[in-house]
Amino acid sequence: MGGKLILAIESSCDETSAAVLLGTKVLSNEVYTQLQHAQYGGVVPEIASRAHQTMITAVVHAALKTAGKELRDLEVIAVTQGPGLMGSLLVGISFAKSLSLALEIPIVGVNHMQAHILAHLADDCENKPSFPFLNLTVSGGHTQLVVVHSPSRMEVVGETIDDAAGEAFDKAAKVLGLDYPGGPLLDKMSQNGDAKKFTFPIPKVEGLNFSFSGLKTSLLYFLRDSQKENSNFIEEERANLCASFQHTVVTYLLRQIQRGLTSTQSNQIAICGGVSANSELRKQLVEYGRKNEVEVFIPPFKYCTDNAAMIGIAAHFLLLENQVSDLKMVPLSRFPL
Ligand code: KG4
Ligand code: ZN
Repeated sequence: MGGKLILAIESSCDETSAAVLLGTKVLSNEVYTQLQHAQYGGVVPEIASRAHQTMITAVVHAALKTAGKELRDLEVIAVTQGPGLMGSLLVGISFAKSLSLALEIPIVGVNHMQAHILAHLADDCENKPSFPFLNLTVSGGHTQLVVVHSPSRMEVVGETIDDAAGEAFDKAAKVLGLDYPGGPLLDKMSQNGDAKKFTFPIPKVEGLNFSFSGLKTSLLYFLRDSQKENSNFIEEERANLCASFQHTVVTYLLRQIQRGLTSTQSNQIAICGGVSANSELRKQLVEYGRKNEVEVFIPPFKYCTDNAAMIGIAAHFLLLENQVSDLKMVPLSRFPL
């Protein structure tokens, strides 16, 4: 598919990213992950916006260089408009506005959550879902089941009533003594653990919504009681605890996916967002698809966590519908689908 030459910028949280795309063909996708937050056990907004400010020019130059393009070649600037951290979004948006003004090319503000879903339509994704399809977005800030009717029409049919799935992984990892962000470390640690060693209660929420706070509390209470008997409990059982917790979260996600597919009468499930990088989720979902004749779409790792390529893809589809922003565009810390 053809399309315009797009420079996309993502700065909603703790990744400074820039990508160059020709329509949905990704020519480059540079991601700078801010490691400064690890020592604080979570993203510090003030540090994030300063780090974006420091890195954004270099990241954009790197994206242009990798793509073999120059600023004057660009036809469109795409940028994450929200949801995200206000100070972080402001850096990307101000930079994008300046480029749009200087190069006299249009600017397109993109919804980050829509972009996570549309990453499935990148040219280099082997299989692409066809509309309409069901999508599970699982990131650090969101857990949503979405019916994707078209690139611009998405309907949330279920979402978390408290923590997001990524938050649940990060919080569990923290109490289990892993660094931040804990999700990927917990995943890695689980590979040497027995997922059946401990059982945690599957959250009980009606319909297609999610809840993770009870699960987190039950892990906390279990650890507190077990440590009373053995003060080295976490150290000795860390891998088994990680694997068992991960197994519970993934089993729960799968159950809600199954409910979602039944209630929306869909036979296509796509996943996206940082937690879609989780190896157990990927494995169980593929197995589930095979057993139930459901088509499963899992993005390559590079499109799971925050990246600018997905912002460019979303912009491509917005452009097809003439949805262009202007220089009055403002960041939206909340931006419903
Ligand atoms: O989509 P994302 O990069 O940023 C947001 O928009 O939130 O998601 C980040 C979240 C973090 O909570 C991180 O711990 C989690 O995704 N995550 C994982 C894995 N990789 C990233 N959680 C579990 N297993 C993983 N392999
Ligand atoms: Zn994200």
